Amino acid sequence: MSEALPVVEVGPVAHGGSCVARLDGQVVFVRHALPGERVSIRVTDRTKRYLRADAVEVLEASPDRVTPPCDLAGVCGGCDFQHVAPEAQLRLLGSVVSEQLQRLAGIEREVQVEAVSPSLGWRTRVTWSTTPDGRPGLRRHRSHQVVPVEHCPIAHPGLPDVLSHRWDAPQVEAIVSSTDQQLLVTDATVPKDLHVDGVAGTDGARRAGRTRLTERVEDHDFTVTGSGFWQVHPAAARTLVDAVLEAAEARPGDRVADLYAGVGLFTAFLADRVGPQGTVVSVEADTQAARDARRSLHRHAQVRLVSATTEQALRDDADLRRGVDLVVLDPPRTGARRAVPDVARLGARRVVYVACDPAALARDVATFAEHGYRLGDLRAFALFPMTHHVECVAVLDRQAVGSE
Ligand SMILES: C[S@@+](CC[C@H](N)C(=O)[O-])C[C@H]1O[C@@H](n2cnc3c(N)ncnc32)[C@H](O)[C@@H]1O
Repeated sequence: MSEALPVVEVGPVAHGGSCVARLDGQVVFVRHALPGERVSIRVTDRTKRYLRADAVEVLEASPDRVTPPCDLAGVCGGCDFQHVAPEAQLRLLGSVVSEQLQRLAGIEREVQVEAVSPSLGWRTRVTWSTTPDGRPGLRRHRSHQVVPVEHCPIAHPGLPDVLSHRWDAPQVEAIVSSTDQQLLVTDATVPKDLHVDGVAGTDGARRAGRTRLTERVEDHDFTVTGSGFWQVHPAAARTLVDAVLEAAEARPGDRVADLYAGVGLFTAFLADRVGPQGTVVSVEADTQAARDARRSLHRHAQVRLVSATTEQALRDDADLRRGVDLVVLDPPRTGARRAVPDVARLGARRVVYVACDPAALARDVATFAEHGYRLGDLRAFALFPMTHHVECVAVLDRQAVGSE
């Protein structure tokens, strides 16, 4: 006879999308549950400080629970909020951002997360893994095991049709750009009956046709080579550009630093705002992305591209060290921990921080506070619907000396 599974009362959502519960006094992070539910759980992981578990049976359901639009919800590791009603997803994301700000930066702030459409068919870049017999799929949560996928409701319908074929490499990355160009990044043999615009070999050896894509945002075109960074949701680039421009309030003639600039998305629009009298120093560590930025931005005389890490540029770039009026920074998930003190030393009147991890953001907001910058407006966007990921755009203003 199988042993009865433990039952827990589910508490608030935590960073990472699981909900917090207690089992025999120990903290347990429960996936696929919702605050207020009673669920039976299967423990999947034990550490000294906490347990991880999956909800198995929902004994008392939350009114926010819905039937997931995907058959593989809870099986594949890709989405963690498929069982949550769309408005409730926004509330959960908002409470995670609030909780991180409170816990890591001591800031009390209610955060309303803004919905971004569409909520399905939005993923314009997907890395499929393959099973030993070549079927494409996605990995289980915290596992190397690949779950074969025949249809993925969050995948963009314009992506190359990877799912109806077998592959002889461990990974196939499929991309569709905002200009409808398709690209596969893989070392696999591409099936003859699969029509795709371009294929880039990840070993650099096998390349056929197009290996670069054009992404268009309003009247700016951006080159992105292979699997270089570009925002994933089709509405993300435009949403973030609007939010960054509104937050930055750049003026003609301003000196701006765009740090972690990628292929120059914010740089191009900031250059328009500061005009020919201003300057935008655009710093990117990835050499291919920096080359792509050069292709897209060479006509903007007021832009200076620096191919270096943000940390190096802040230390060594004489022009930057003379100071700037504004900083925009959009670091990777780990945040900008080591760069924050040097960013603060640039003396900008305002820093606009774009963050895909609210914990890293809150930690860095606390460090900015130690260096005289106080959190102003903060907007949050559900740019990854059906998942626990959330993007924030935060304003940090330099406090006058002597003010609190
Ligand atoms: C979240 S992306 C943002 C890119 C760009 N702002 C956009 O929206 O398209 C972060 C970028 O930072 C770059 N990066 C990572 N670590 C870096 C570092 N230490 N210094 C400078 N750039 C870095 C990555 O290559 C990536 O292009």
